Amino acid sequence: MEEAGFVREAFRNRRLLGVALIAAIGGFLFGYDTGVIGGAMLFMKNDLALKTHGQQQLTVAILLLGAVTGALISGWLADRISRRRTKIISGCVYVTGAVGCALAQSYWQILAGRFWLGLAVGTASFVSPLYIAELVPPRIRGGIVSFNQLMITSGILAAYIVDWGFASFSNNWRWMFAIGVVPGAALAIGMYFMPFSPRWLVDRGRDEQAHAVLERYRFEEDDVDAEISEIKAVSESEVGLRGLIAKGVRRMLVVGIALAVFQQIVGINTVIYYGPTILKFAGQKNTGALTQSVFIGCTNVFFTIVAILLLDKLGRRFFLISGTSILTAALVGLGVFFESAGVRHAVPWLALACLLTYIMGFAVGLGPVFWLMIAEIFPLQMRGPAMAVCTMFNWGLNFAISYTFLTLTSAITKQGTFWLYAFFGVCAVVFFTIVVPETKDRSLEQIQSDLGADADVALSRDTSAEPEHARA
Ligand code: BGC
Repeated sequence: MEEAGFVREAFRNRRLLGVALIAAIGGFLFGYDTGVIGGAMLFMKNDLALKTHGQQQLTVAILLLGAVTGALISGWLADRISRRRTKIISGCVYVTGAVGCALAQSYWQILAGRFWLGLAVGTASFVSPLYIAELVPPRIRGGIVSFNQLMITSGILAAYIVDWGFASFSNNWRWMFAIGVVPGAALAIGMYFMPFSPRWLVDRGRDEQAHAVLERYRFEEDDVDAEISEIKAVSESEVGLRGLIAKGVRRMLVVGIALAVFQQIVGINTVIYYGPTILKFAGQKNTGALTQSVFIGCTNVFFTIVAILLLDKLGRRFFLISGTSILTAALVGLGVFFESAGVRHAVPWLALACLLTYIMGFAVGLGPVFWLMIAEIFPLQMRGPAMAVCTMFNWGLNFAISYTFLTLTSAITKQGTFWLYAFFGVCAVVFFTIVVPETKDRSLEQIQSDLGADADVALSRDTSAEPEHARA
C-alpha cells in the first residue's frame, strides 16, 4: 500500500497507533543501546582501563552476541508466554542493563552489562515487529515494518544527542547509559496495559479473546470473523525450520540471507558504533566528533523517512542498487582521505562528507529494504522461522564486523579497511542487480515464481502481503 495511505490509516485508527508506538519503543531502544556506545567509548576507555583494541571491540560487540542469544530465546519465549509478556520482560532487561552498565567498575562488569542489554536488543529486533504486524490490519503491515526501521534510527539519533550533551557538560559516560532506563521503563509499563496478540491467542485456542481484541482495533467495514479464520488456516499449515531447506524455498532463503549479510559487511555499524572514533582518526577532538555524529544521526533519520515515502513508488531494487552504489563510492572516498596526506590537508571536511554520503546511501537502501524484503519474500506459513534465520545472520555478521574493525585498521590500515568494505559494496550491487527481484506491486505468488519456488512450498495464496490493487 502507498505510504500516504498508511499514514492516513494509522491516524484514523488512533487506538492502534498508540499500541504500535508503545510496542515500537523496543525498536527505539535497539537503536539507543547500540548507538550510545559510540560516544561513551571515548570516555569509558580511560575510566575502565580498556587499553587494547581487543577490549574496546569486545565491549562494543558483546552486545551483539547478547542480541543473537536474545533473538533465539525470544522466538521461543514469544510463543510460550506470549509476545506481550516477552516485551514486558525485555523492558525490565533494558532497565536493569542500563543501570548495570552505568554502574560498571571494571572491564568484566561492563561486558556483563552489555551482554545483558544485548538480550533485550535481540528480543526487540524480533518481537517488536512481530507483535505489531500481528495486531495491525494486513493492509498497513508493510508501512509498519519500515516504521520500525525509523524507530531504530531515531533511537540511534537520540543516543548521539545524549552522548553529545553529556560530553559537552561533564564527560560523564555513566549517564549516557543511565538515560536508557526511561524508555526501558516506558516499554515495560506500557506493554502491561497492551493487549495480547490476536494471533497468539488463536494459537492458544482463545478465539473469543482474539475476537474481542480484533473488534477493538478494527473498523465496522473490517470482517473480524474472516480474519480469525485466516489466522487459523495459516497456523494449521505452518512449516517449521525443516521446511526452510526444501528445494523450492532455497532461493528465497539465499536472497534473504544475502541481504542480511550484505547489510552488515558494507560496514554500516563501524560508522554507527565507531563514528566518533573515525572522526577522531580524521583529526577531530572529542566534542567536535560527537557534534558531527549528531549530523550523521540526523541524516540517517531523514533519509529513512525519504525511503519510507518513496519505496512503494520507485521500488525496492532502485533504492537497493542506487543506495548501495552511493555508499560504496563514499567508502572509496574515505579510503582516499586516509591514504593521502595531501587530500587530508586540502579538504579536511572530506571525511565527514563521505560519512554523511555513506549513511544517506544506507538509509535509503539496505537499511529499510533488508527488513522490508525479508517480510515480503517468504510465504506467510514460513515467514516466522525464515525471518528468524535472516535476523540471526544479520546479528552474527554485525558482531564479526564490529569485533574486527579496530584490529583491521591496524592490520591493513584505515584506507585498506574502507576499501575492503567498498569491495563488498561492489559485490552487493552486482548481486542485487542480477539476483534480487522487484517486490513492489507484485503478489506473493509472482515473487515466489521469480525466485523459482516450487508449487508445493509456494503454499496457499497469501493475500495479506499483496498490494491492495493486486488483490482487487
Ligand atoms: C541495521 C542495524 C544498523 C541500523 C542503522 C539497521 O537496519 O540492521 O545494524 O545499526 O540499521 O540505521
